[in-house]
Amino acid sequence: MKQVKIGVAGCGAAAAHHSVACREISDKVKLVVAYDANEKRARRLAKTHGMETCEDYKSLLARNDVDAVIVALPHYLHEEVTVAACEAGKHVLCEKPMAPTLEECDAMIKAAKKNGVKLMIAENHRFLPAHVLIHDYVSRGMIGRVLLARAYEGVSEVSDLSKPEHWKGNPKLAGGGVLMDAGVHRLSVLRWLFGEVDSVYCWLAKQVIKLENKAEDNAMMFLKFENGTIAEVVVSFTVISPPTNRLELYGTEGTVLEDHAWKYPVQIFSTLKEMGDKRHQWYTPEVEHQPFPGYYPLSFRHEDEHFADCIINDKEPEYTPEMAKGSVATVLMGYLSAKTGKMVTSKDLEEVASNKGTRSIFEGLEKISI
Ligand SMILES: NC(=O)c1ccc[n+]([C@@H]2O[C@H](COP(=O)([O-])OP(=O)(O)OC[C@H]3O[C@@H](n4cnc5c(N)ncnc54)[C@H](O)[C@@H]3O)[C@@H](O)[C@H]2O)c1
Repeated sequence: MKQVKIGVAGCGAAAAHHSVACREISDKVKLVVAYDANEKRARRLAKTHGMETCEDYKSLLARNDVDAVIVALPHYLHEEVTVAACEAGKHVLCEKPMAPTLEECDAMIKAAKKNGVKLMIAENHRFLPAHVLIHDYVSRGMIGRVLLARAYEGVSEVSDLSKPEHWKGNPKLAGGGVLMDAGVHRLSVLRWLFGEVDSVYCWLAKQVIKLENKAEDNAMMFLKFENGTIAEVVVSFTVISPPTNRLELYGTEGTVLEDHAWKYPVQIFSTLKEMGDKRHQWYTPEVEHQPFPGYYPLSFRHEDEHFADCIINDKEPEYTPEMAKGSVATVLMGYLSAKTGKMVTSKDLEEVASNKGTRSIFEGLEKISI
């Protein structure tokens, strides 16, 4: 296959980013058809990007001219549509978080394996050049052993969260609030850098959106990784600034600071001789980047191109579904900790999974109060 023909399921904000990204790699992908329950949205996206529309996702999956599906739907639909797509023999790029529960993640992995199709979770943070550069610094030991990390994401979702009928922030439809939605981004990067999580302590806050059916709008999580690194994750749905992400890493031989809002997003201070004449001073490397909103199309382009390359060259995605499931598991540990007020380990999560199932973790999240 030389060019992957794509169907888009869900025509909201994420689908718009994917469509722009796919147009930029038109030698490798072709957008064919769009579907959304809201026909107007489907027609608008289809018109902008030269696609047809169809009336439901089953007719999208039945088309012979679709090789792969981008699932850009609310979280509660990820599993249903991904499994159906795999069963129809289509490759799937499904938006993050993989799915709200571990059981749904497992069903998606099983369906992809059974049908021999590629499944990648669209975790654009794994493909942002600034993050790729930082991962390279850390794996080459350029700041030594990382002792402390801080990760932040802040966006304003107050408008959608304020609508009681909107899926965002509704634990039944989204699997929680900001921790599931934005926390999963930050955790995918931290887990990439430091591996498995040993334990988690978490606070959730419902500070701006007081609607009965919505969960936390702000969250703060403390983590200890099995490698000994300790980290803090702060995520917000209520910031009054353009969206941004920040990462701070403090190691035995240096420091890395990163902010998506900066024109040159990465700064490194290292004592290592490998830094040459940049040693013992702040150094700002050249890296492909655009502050908000430019980092979205940039990271989506790299991500979608990787997905297309995996199909064209029959390779497994670098960001595996198991890794994406791991980030969901860490989020669920956070929810469990916030509900119980205790430090939570992966063993605690396994116990809940085998007793009541991980969906039980969402019960009562709306009542979290700070
Ligand atoms: N990677 C990123 O930076 C990023 C950014 C935004 C969203 N996302 C993710 O993308 C996904 C979609 O989020 P979004 O912000 O685009 O949401 P959205 O609300 O803007 O769009 C979702 C679309 O799904 C449609 N929809 C809802 N229920 C449906 C149903 N039953 N059948 C068919 N269509 C239905 C809605 O009409 C809407 O157009 C989520 O998983 C979200 O976390 C990722």
